[in-house]
Amino acid sequence: MFYRYEDGHGLPHDPLKAIVAPRPIGWISSRSGNGRINLAPYSFFNMISTKPCLIMFSSEGRKDSVSFIEETGEFATNLVSANLSVAMNKSSVDAPRGVSEFDYAGLRAADCNLISAPRVAEAYASFECVVTDIQHPKDRNGNPVQAIMVTGEVIGVHINEAILTDGLVDMTKAQPVSRLGYMDFASVSETFQMFRPKWEG
Ligand SMILES: Cc1cc2nc3c(=O)[nH]c(=O)nc-3n(C[C@H](O)[C@H](O)[C@H](O)COP(=O)(O)O)c2cc1C
Repeated sequence: MFYRYEDGHGLPHDPLKAIVAPRPIGWISSRSGNGRINLAPYSFFNMISTKPCLIMFSSEGRKDSVSFIEETGEFATNLVSANLSVAMNKSSVDAPRGVSEFDYAGLRAADCNLISAPRVAEAYASFECVVTDIQHPKDRNGNPVQAIMVTGEVIGVHINEAILTDGLVDMTKAQPVSRLGYMDFASVSETFQMFRPKWEG
């Protein structure tokens, strides 16, 4: 099938988020200017550079995570393992601003080392990030869309050493949860290796 996006898909649900999947989940924790803490999952999330290490997430509208981060310029990104799926999903609740999703989801907020935002103590890894950009993407006519894209530089990294095998991050131990389309999620149960080719022509 083919459809012009603006004409609609004719399917029971929009297939696009199900096609651009699996998406990693950035579990974003932040602190407001007056010290309230916040936690929410974002699957419009990725790492976009290694030197420096930059990560981004995109919020469809100015949600609490964005407004807290605008106030302090810092946030932590936590990664979700399968055993934390239910808590991660609970933390997506539309709680009133200032109500901690850490408490609502039964999670422990641990201090970060370099920033004021908290991190999820139970997460297998967390990044301490300083905001580098808050951007307002535009459509093809140059009109701003509702998404707000936050980019941050990773300045500190927490890893639970239980996920390491011979010093390498072992995804079969970490069991990261990713977002698929609809109400679906996936976790990693097997991996395979490939080596990049070298041009010899
Ligand atoms: C797995 C998952 C992924 C999500 N990804 C996004 C996302 O990429 N962008 C977004 O705006 N909302 C996303 N949401 C919804 C937010 O988590 C939800 O609106 C939340 O209440 C926002 O919290 P905040 O206002 O505390 O930032 C996602 C929810 C779930 C469960």
